[in-house]
Amino acid sequence: MLNTVFFVSGKGSNLKSCYEKFPKDKIRICAVVSNKKCGAVQFAVQNEIPVFLVSSENQTGFFNYEELIRQLKKIPAELIVLAGFLKLIPDNFVDEFESRIINIHPALLPSFGGEGMYGMNVHKAVFDSSAKISGATVHFVDKIYDHGKIIAQKSVDISNVGGPEEIAERVLDIEHELLPFVIQKFAEKKIVINHNRVLIAE
Ligand code: GAR
Repeated sequence: MLNTVFFVSGKGSNLKSCYEKFPKDKIRICAVVSNKKCGAVQFAVQNEIPVFLVSSENQTGFFNYEELIRQLKKIPAELIVLAGFLKLIPDNFVDEFESRIINIHPALLPSFGGEGMYGMNVHKAVFDSSAKISGATVHFVDKIYDHGKIIAQKSVDISNVGGPEEIAERVLDIEHELLPFVIQKFAEKKIVINHNRVLIAE
């Protein structure tokens, strides 16, 4: 059994697709962490998944990252999945869960990543660039935005789109396939870090 914890800030469509696609006897979503109340948190509550609100500042009703680490270690969390979490993860958290935090990004990294590149900002930048393809990337999280080793990518043709919204729709469809696929490979222990590259074994 792989114990996963999802970090979210938005609608939660990736959380939902993973929840629906995961084989329940192999992968468990043990908790959802968010920096705010949002659609994804609502989904977690409806499905009786424990929710932790987190903040880097001292906010009533929110865990700070030190407390959150203690809670997640109790579970114990084996894989942290950033599925639309829009805050930078602090260094002490990255150190604690080294090589066990992954993020889904709505473009083909290393292009269209970095600070401020999230959600529709990404799709607008892709549209304005005149690129003909976009896609989704799942990568390990390190201390720099959208910078860790790439685990998997999938591309989509956007040559005939009318605007960024249409890119977002096409990319999201891909995300809903790619993220559960990668997490399933983690559960099967088929993700292997080999120097600078990440291999997915058959
Ligand atoms: C997804 O498109 C995800 O790739 C993106 O936020 C959206 C969340 O949607 N993440 C980022 O932009 C992170 N840089 P969801 O809440 O419906 O899963």
